[in-house]
Amino acid sequence: MPDHLTPLAPGSLAGKTALVTGSSRGIGADTVRYFAQAGANVVINFRNKAPRAEKLAAELRELGVQTLVVGADLTDPDSVRALFAEVERVFGSLDVLVLNASGGMESGMAEDYALRLNRDAQVNVLESALPLLGDDARVVFVTSHQAHFIRTTPTMPEYEPVARSKRAGEDALRERIPALSERGVELVVVSGDMIEGTITATLLERANPGAIASRREDAGKLYNVAEFAAEVARAAVDPLPVDNTRLVGDTASFAAE
Ligand SMILES: NC(=O)c1ccc[n+]([C@@H]2O[C@H](COP(=O)([O-])OP(=O)(O)OC[C@H]3O[C@@H](n4cnc5c(N)ncnc54)[C@H](OP(=O)(O)O)[C@@H]3O)[C@@H](O)[C@H]2O)c1
Repeated sequence: MPDHLTPLAPGSLAGKTALVTGSSRGIGADTVRYFAQAGANVVINFRNKAPRAEKLAAELRELGVQTLVVGADLTDPDSVRALFAEVERVFGSLDVLVLNASGGMESGMAEDYALRLNRDAQVNVLESALPLLGDDARVVFVTSHQAHFIRTTPTMPEYEPVARSKRAGEDALRERIPALSERGVELVVVSGDMIEGTITATLLERANPGAIASRREDAGKLYNVAEFAAEVARAAVDPLPVDNTRLVGDTASFAAE
């Protein structure tokens, strides 16, 4: 990660605790690293990649923060219950929850898997976290422009079911904004274009050769993992944006609703 990418002031999150779902790799891993660099204690969650999660945790402990690693399949309610029981036991409360974990393009999954992970599991994770989220807590839902704008802007057929399930998840979370506000909890949706160097982008490029170059040309620039993660991390601390939405990068190719 380039040294100049320090989106949060050092020490600015000292004493806070942040959980990022799906933080064993990719955008989630860089996001959790930024929180730790800012002094937060962090919870790294993974589904399969325990060694990667443990390696990241060891790196972050060197920064002097407390780091908890919890494996949990977010589509399994028992697993989610156990995750938050562990967070409560170790930290007692949470200040930041980033709903980053996502999927649906994995092979061999049931037809409804994308919806179960990207909608149902997101809502369940939020509901399960609520008792731990204190006043002024921030919840960040991470999505893509291809999903956020799916109702008005078509996307690649391979990604469409994922896009629709992520938009359904976003809608279900947004419905909870009034109830969250009553408890002093804020929700921000962060949406970004295709991110260079991710597995999803690689899979889409394989199915649609030239897709990445074409998006890069249309958008002028595509963010990489570290750059997009920096936006996700900032979304956890910046003033609440209009309509609870932080759009990252160019959106000219996407039709507003
Ligand atoms: N990739 C893009 O081009 C792009 C663009 C815009 C927005 N985004 C958004 O950014 C976020 C992260 O994307 P990414 O590309 O970094 O994802 P990724 O590389 O596919 O990583 C997904 C993470 O989610 C975890 N995960 C997957 N299924 C899970 C489950 N059932 N339970 C618990 N954890 C699970 C994975 O854990 P394991 O490693 O253990 O499997 C991994 O840590 C997503 O919300 C995505 O929609 C991505």
